[in-house]
Amino acid sequence: MTNFSHILIDWYNQNKRELPWRNTKNPYNIWLSEIILQQTRVVQGIGYYLKFINKYNTIKELSEASEDEVLSLWKGLGYYSRGRNLRKAAIQIMEEFEGVFPKDFKNLKKLKGVGDYSAAAIASFAFNEKIAVLDGNVYRVLSRIFNINTAIDTSAGKKQFWALANSLICDKHPDIFNQAIMEFGALQ
Ligand code: ADE
Repeated sequence: MTNFSHILIDWYNQNKRELPWRNTKNPYNIWLSEIILQQTRVVQGIGYYLKFINKYNTIKELSEASEDEVLSLWKGLGYYSRGRNLRKAAIQIMEEFEGVFPKDFKNLKKLKGVGDYSAAAIASFAFNEKIAVLDGNVYRVLSRIFNINTAIDTSAGKKQFWALANSLICDKHPDIFNQAIMEFGALQ
């Protein structure tokens, strides 16, 4: 474990918020939370996450819902393409993946509405894949701690941060490392 990840994980263990999607390894639950949290604050997201999990217990149940039904549950969250893609991805999993949630970064990215960030989050949280998440918070943490001024909206910048984050990530607990770096960015 790098010294950085050691300190970070210690901090996380003492300061983390209890969030419902952190007590599960179920990729369906984790995926749902990550899609909701893409453009929504955690406090607002919790209620929606619980509503969806209660109504659609499994990916199969979600895949059988109508678009109107899903969007009416999504109401108030905004960015409705996320709600539409949620249902489409559920159908995709039933039809193209035989009802089994994809288990790695590469296959997760094939799902509607799942990009680099969400695929890395699901792969690490649910399957312990060693792949770093990069979101706005993570960029901010890394650029401040490592004093990097490269713009993140350039491909050189993205590559640099990607390489740095993946050099720091912990071998044994990539899931905790990723939760911890996002939490640090969110709370500090
Ligand atoms: N924002 C995006 N994903 C998150 C997660 N898993 N926990 C807290 N905030 C998040």
